[in-house]
Amino acid sequence: MTQGFDTAREFAYTKADFDQVRQRIYRIAGISLSDGKADLVYSRLARRLRATGIGDFREYLAQLDTDPEEQREFVNALTTNLTSFFREPHHFDMLAQFLPRRSNPIRIWCGAASTGEEPYSLAMTAVESFGSLTPPVKILATDLDTQVLATAEAGIYSEEKIERLSTGRRQQFFFRGKGSKQGLVRIHPALQALLSFRQLNLLDTKWPLKPGFDAIFLRNVMIYFDKPTQAAVLQRCASVLQPDGLLFVGHSESLAHVANLFSPIGRTVYKLQSTRKAS
Ligand SMILES: C[S@@+](CC[C@H](N)C(=O)[O-])C[C@H]1O[C@@H](n2cnc3c(N)ncnc32)[C@H](O)[C@@H]1O
Repeated sequence: MTQGFDTAREFAYTKADFDQVRQRIYRIAGISLSDGKADLVYSRLARRLRATGIGDFREYLAQLDTDPEEQREFVNALTTNLTSFFREPHHFDMLAQFLPRRSNPIRIWCGAASTGEEPYSLAMTAVESFGSLTPPVKILATDLDTQVLATAEAGIYSEEKIERLSTGRRQQFFFRGKGSKQGLVRIHPALQALLSFRQLNLLDTKWPLKPGFDAIFLRNVMIYFDKPTQAAVLQRCASVLQPDGLLFVGHSESLAHVANLFSPIGRTVYKLQSTRKAS
């Protein structure tokens, strides 16, 4: 990125525009964008300028103040939604052992569910762990991005997304599309029945959640937050987790700075500090 930004782009884009974008997305979603993200922001938002027919960034940013629908699109465009089925598989192995030891009904919250691969992996794990398509498990899948949530709820994926799953899982949990749906797979309705979907901004100071989750999956989202935001989010996680529940975070997310709240019990798996009582 050249300083001051070049002018040979489709839409005029200045450092001041980029700074405004980062202030806004930080305020709305807690997402901290470094200087190096200026090009990425341009390419993600240029799509929105084209879709809305707005001619430059300044005008687009001004429009956001009065257009809640476009503000949603703005957030959707700037979130990073990379995910996959059984990503970081050791977590699911641990969960499979943990679930049968819990009293029913078991509640799991997946707090950055993206396009659904993670909560459906949780559902598959529950089915396998109890040997039943109707395990006593309820999974709440939330995300800030409404578009990825819609994809998650639909439960339809391209075949490549399940390529790396075992044949057993592919056969038990997915239906192959035919005709116009060739190349697509649909999640088994029994898995969908275990899930509910809701939009939730982790940044909100009050979460509309019933406390007492047995497990929380909050993976690969805190990397986008600065440390004070992470600490506030983790404080709220602590208040909705059962005293002996588990918190699973992403491979590069350390909770060392909130050692007063959580202590590690495995690779990126945490429990509440014993000195702390869940409220
Ligand atoms: C990289 S994906 C991680 C998906 C999944 N947890 C995984 O590990 O595969 C990050 C997700 O966090 C969501 N996200 C970002 N900021 C958020 C916020 N403030 N509140 C809730 N979700 C947020 C994004 O929309 C995105 O779907």
